[in-house]
Amino acid sequence: MGKNISAPIVEAMKKYSSDGVLAFHTPGHKQGRGAHEFLRELLTLEGLRQEVSLMEELDDLHAPQSCIKEAQRLAAKLWHADETIFFVNGTTSAIQAMILGTLKAGDLVFIPRNAHRSVISGLILSGAVPIFLPIEFDAELKVPLNVSVATIERAIKKYPQARAILLVSPNYYGVAADLEKISVLAHEARMILLIDEAHGAHLQFCEELPRSAMDSGADLAAQSTHKLLGALTQCSMLMFRKKFAERVKFAASLLQTTSPNQILLASLDIARLQMELEGREKVSRAVELAKSLRAEIKLIDGLRTFDAAENFALDATKVTVNVENLGLSGYEAEKILREELKVQCELSDAANLLFLITYADDEQTISGLVDALKKLSFYRRKISPKPFLIPNSSFIIASLSPRETFYTPVEVVALKKAVGRICAEEITFYPPGIPLLMPGEKISAEVVEAIKKSVGKVFGAADKTLLTIKVVAK
Ligand SMILES: Cc1ncc(COP(=O)(O)O)c(C=O)c1O
Repeated sequence: MGKNISAPIVEAMKKYSSDGVLAFHTPGHKQGRGAHEFLRELLTLEGLRQEVSLMEELDDLHAPQSCIKEAQRLAAKLWHADETIFFVNGTTSAIQAMILGTLKAGDLVFIPRNAHRSVISGLILSGAVPIFLPIEFDAELKVPLNVSVATIERAIKKYPQARAILLVSPNYYGVAADLEKISVLAHEARMILLIDEAHGAHLQFCEELPRSAMDSGADLAAQSTHKLLGALTQCSMLMFRKKFAERVKFAASLLQTTSPNQILLASLDIARLQMELEGREKVSRAVELAKSLRAEIKLIDGLRTFDAAENFALDATKVTVNVENLGLSGYEAEKILREELKVQCELSDAANLLFLITYADDEQTISGLVDALKKLSFYRRKISPKPFLIPNSSFIIASLSPRETFYTPVEVVALKKAVGRICAEEITFYPPGIPLLMPGEKISAEVVEAIKKSVGKVFGAADKTLLTIKVVAK
């Protein structure tokens, strides 16, 4: 099969800008003529000349007929989907469209307890009701793993009436669920399998990485093309099977701007072209670089990293470094790296740093990181890691859907008086980074006790002292 070397959106933009048309249309900068020098510096004159919108030959994202249709078709082919929609408002809106386009109010959907906030916003929009799934956790390295096949089996048995399973795979740390097995289980139970694949647009291009959602049999997968590949920030794609096309396209159209930025759309087209031409070579190289980085990290005293997760596949390009043996928290290590050693990681948590190795890295960037980590290993403190609570392992069905919780008045009560009330905020401690409470969930006596005993940074709670908590008003 020959490779496609065209980028239909880019070609249509070039054609329009070189046609010599006198512009009496949006955007107001009129092909760069009125643009401030700062903007010209950011985007170049050529970029601004092509930054027009809503011209007939540039197609319509909401009813694509020409260049956008062709660019989306090429993307669907490359990522093994039946169809693809381009998103210029991040994977957040792709996930919202995925949920709104497949679920309706009252539908039960399994979601991992630590799903991204875009999943919750998709549930608010659709009215679907979550059943929270427990997440496996590596207690030694303090890294959240993923949802196990055994958990999915138990969940389906307990709630056979659920309409869908939504998983995040791979997660931020690169740990993937066994989507091949889970897709068989889901489809046998007549459930739809929805995947938040925000961190997995590159999986397609190297056999050593976990299998992509589409190749594993998922029905829909939302990918952040901007996170690990070459599209501009905000640019994402939703991959799906034909039978979901009509409603998913309608949902996407409800959620997207009517004036998509042409440069953002073009960047998706270019990211696809780049991967089509060089994806295999570049992503395989990133995997090799990440492997050599891990080997070096293992030789540095005080640092730990992992290259496999028990019962889960791991995306090797996500390199997690545990710094606890230095007596530092991940947050402190991030600050040292950023301020003193001029290296910025993707994220830090109480115990770890996460580094992303992408197709843009080379031997030089890896050796710069290794040097910085060697220097980091000399920053030692004598603080022993704090204990933390292993997350809840039961299935919990929301008492109130996220939509009902969103529309219901809220009040603040003392934590000790909150047992039996319905929570109106998320309460998450890092570690483990898996919410103890989600909005719409009934507050049990055990959870109140767990909150009292928890240590570490709390996220989500309006009252960081946790003496009070937001609940749904009676
Ligand atoms: C797992 C996951 N899903 C969805 C998103 C949302 O993606 P975006 O920022 O492109 O809207 C993120 C962003 O960090 C994420 O980590």
